[in-house]
Amino acid sequence: MRLGALLVATLFVVGSPLAWADSVPMVVGGSRVRVEDYPFAVYLVDRSGFQFCGGSLVGADKVVTAAHCVSGRSTANAWVVWDREDKLGTDGVVAGVRDIWVHPRFTSSMRGYDVSVVTLSTRLPGPYVPLAAPQDTALYAPNTMATILGWGAVSSSGSASRYLVKGTVPITTDAACRAAYGQTYLSTAMVCAGYQNGGVDTCQGDSGGPLISGGRLIGDTSWGRGCAMAGYPGVYGRLATYYDAIEAQVNPEMSAVPTRR
Ligand code: ARG
Repeated sequence: MRLGALLVATLFVVGSPLAWADSVPMVVGGSRVRVEDYPFAVYLVDRSGFQFCGGSLVGADKVVTAAHCVSGRSTANAWVVWDREDKLGTDGVVAGVRDIWVHPRFTSSMRGYDVSVVTLSTRLPGPYVPLAAPQDTALYAPNTMATILGWGAVSSSGSASRYLVKGTVPITTDAACRAAYGQTYLSTAMVCAGYQNGGVDTCQGDSGGPLISGGRLIGDTSWGRGCAMAGYPGVYGRLATYYDAIEAQVNPEMSAVPTRR
């Protein structure tokens, strides 16, 4: 009798992932999309091939990701995978990393400045995603629907996704984010997105990946309490704040201080 119950329980646990294969929500609460439709969405792997973060292609050889993804990491232990929807596939390009710039004021994601620009040793075709500029404040307006993308975990305790997943989340008010995270939420350095009741969110492994609003890259996945929890939205780096610093890395020749003749 007890053995029978155990067997039924085992069958249920082992059998369920197969039964769920088409209905399991991903990012958390998202769904699969084709990488062709989001050609700027890339992911980072280490020398063992492990996908540890996401990123956004903003130029032929420039990827915006989170500082906490690459801070202290050697360029020899990071690759950027482009145009590969299925992590177990061989599509696309695995580009080496030539340089890693981490915002000089970064210490930890919960203190802001969680942004980095990775320079590739290969140039990749576009389209790239345009960066939100300081005047693009409307893109951050509360309740604006934003897109999150990644190959990260599909639940707080779950494993990473094999495929690219997209979710849609509203930008929250500063008050909602402060209600969740108190003084840790820095409104100039961060932006929160998620439903009051949770359900859709980025999660572990999505870090560094894009938050898109109005066709522009407005944020990079940074941190949050759990994933998709009611009352605890995801926190993203507010990239418009770091526009000049990022642009100086992406287009150094255009950002150089003009010399007087
Ligand atoms: N820090 C995580 C990472 O490194 C991202 C967490 C995002 N969490 C959230 N609840 N939105 O992948």
